[in-house]
Amino acid sequence: MNIQKVCVVGGGTMGNGIAHVFALKGFETTLVEANADLAAKAAATISKNLDRQAAKGTISAAEKDAALKRLKTATSPAEAGGFQFAVEAVSEKLELKKTIFRALDAAAAPDAILATNTSSLPITEIAAAVKDPSRVIGMHFMNPVPVMKLVEIIRALQTSDETYAAVDALAKTLGKTPACAKDFPGFVSNRVLMPMINEAIYCLMEGVSSREDIDQIMKLGMAHPMGPLQLADYIGLDVCLAIMGVLHEGYADSKYRPCPLLKQMVQAGRLGVKSGGGFYDYPRR
Ligand code: CAA
Repeated sequence: MNIQKVCVVGGGTMGNGIAHVFALKGFETTLVEANADLAAKAAATISKNLDRQAAKGTISAAEKDAALKRLKTATSPAEAGGFQFAVEAVSEKLELKKTIFRALDAAAAPDAILATNTSSLPITEIAAAVKDPSRVIGMHFMNPVPVMKLVEIIRALQTSDETYAAVDALAKTLGKTPACAKDFPGFVSNRVLMPMINEAIYCLMEGVSSREDIDQIMKLGMAHPMGPLQLADYIGLDVCLAIMGVLHEGYADSKYRPCPLLKQMVQAGRLGVKSGGGFYDYPRR
């Protein structure tokens, strides 16, 4: 399939990173946000992150300018129109995602592929919302999207071999390394990552070690770029709790029970970097 025009729905951390990478790699990219102000904010973030790459010499000034020329914004999939590929990256609410998929289905070219960047919701159920679910797939990018090499590709029960092959090739065109998982709760990435983070929070709650030492042990001992508590702050503690909830409910297994301290942190509004504080304190954004 010849993909030239793509639509990215959602301009938050993941959506703007995904639009950034598509525009940089030569795709006509339309970023859809709920209103013009949010769309402008997302475009400004992309411009700032492209500047960051240009300043480091990772990309040239000409590549940055060309990427910005290929980037447009819209406030609905219908306004974006005529795309061969779409990826949805809105907040993790199943009904919202289904509504967006119905709108994408109506606006897309008939053989377009529709992907979701969900980190743990059932793609098989999202796929059931459109006319031809064989064209639906999970394309799970990692944060920060312009930097991280992995794309986890998740096949829903209905995903066709053709759709999978096209998205596997697309991930490679973006300069990413694809790895495939089936549509079970948390896929592979979050089924393995989140229990590790949750266990680190249990270690803190039980006084096994300090936050600094827990992070140091995992960072230096396992060669992780960040310790698990710092990473949890970076991902968002509300997101971590929601994913643990999906694992706990999806497998009905107590090994996935969310740590009470994680629940308390979220109740207190300490959500991590985005709220100015989580396990550590951060300057307000
Ligand atoms: N856009 C463009 N470039 C960016 C960027 C962005 N948004 N964020 C960082 N960068 C670039 C920097 O410019 C820098 O470039 P150079 O290597 O060319 O110098 C590079 O990335 C490293 O950034 P920094 O120097 O600012 O900081 P760092 O070396 O501490 O790295 C980090 C930051 C890349 C975030 C690193 O700490 C890291 O890899 N952390 C782990 C991230 C991780 O695990 N992500 C997965 C989270 S889970 C997820 O996303 C899925 C889910 O479903 C929850």
